[in-house]
Amino acid sequence: MTRKVTKAIFPVAGLGTRFLPATKSIPKEIMTLVDRPLIQYAIDEARAAGIKEFIFVTSRGKGALEDYFDNSPVLEQELKRKGKDKLLDVLENTNMESGAIAYIRQHKALGLGHAVWCARRLLDPNEPFAVILPDDVIAADKPCLQQMVEAYEELGGGSMVAAMEVPADKVSAYGVLDVEEDLGHSVVARGMVEKPAPGTEPSNLAVIGRYILSPDVMQNLNQMKQGAGGEVQLTDAIADEITAGRKVYGHRFSGQRFDCGSKAGFLQATISFGLSRDDLRDELQEYLDELSAVRAAAQ
Ligand code: UTP
Repeated sequence: MTRKVTKAIFPVAGLGTRFLPATKSIPKEIMTLVDRPLIQYAIDEARAAGIKEFIFVTSRGKGALEDYFDNSPVLEQELKRKGKDKLLDVLENTNMESGAIAYIRQHKALGLGHAVWCARRLLDPNEPFAVILPDDVIAADKPCLQQMVEAYEELGGGSMVAAMEVPADKVSAYGVLDVEEDLGHSVVARGMVEKPAPGTEPSNLAVIGRYILSPDVMQNLNQMKQGAGGEVQLTDAIADEITAGRKVYGHRFSGQRFDCGSKAGFLQATISFGLSRDDLRDELQEYLDELSAVRAAAQ
């Protein structure tokens, strides 16, 4: 039987340069989609998938992220005193169980693979673990990681990455799967390559920021191989699993993924999440209609 996935690593040590100057002082993961920081979406998704322990790989300047997970007794008392029960609920739902969160530092941004490796001592050497990149936000009826955990348990182990079909002219910006067998929602990978040169992509199935990894991947990371962009790539350590004869699956999740690590993706997510909210939909839609009318009139 496959071991349950109960620990997740959240690599949040990147520099977030695409959001400068904001990221001079605000961690990217604290930036808000409507009224919740990106990290809250990631935590909620992990909880829904049965994750009990949350490991953050952080870096200098990420203090606001650590503070976010502290309880706020003064604020809670004030909301209680004023009878603002709904807001109190919102606040209390963000509270984390004592000891459920661990922080570890990545001293230098040497790549995603290196960030994941930094958490090695906090994992059980026999247990699979999840990795969530908070800047990939996925809107889905059933949260993406939960879909993956279910598929992973059904397939009986190995490693699994979230996968999504992307247009041919965009695929070389991603880790890309070489597909050996298509099982429907999941595929068996024959290989994986990070940011292939345009024209050399093995498929248009791109890897998105959700992973369930066998502990062997951590062993592979010990080799600290430098990959694309001179960084230690997680994709390469997963691809080494295939070379070693172990199973790696891609899972085509249901849902819409937003690349909130990019400005355009973040804006699209803001509009989409705004439109999905009962308290904002009408006003926002009205504004969008006005904008299209103005554009149409100008053409
Ligand atoms: P990105 O490639 O988006 O890099 O990292 P970044 O630094 O966050 O942002 P830009 O490109 O400078 O704007 C993908 C994920 O991997 C983490 C990031 O925090 C992000 O969650 N990461 C990346 C690390 O934790 N450490 C690294 O060395 C690199």
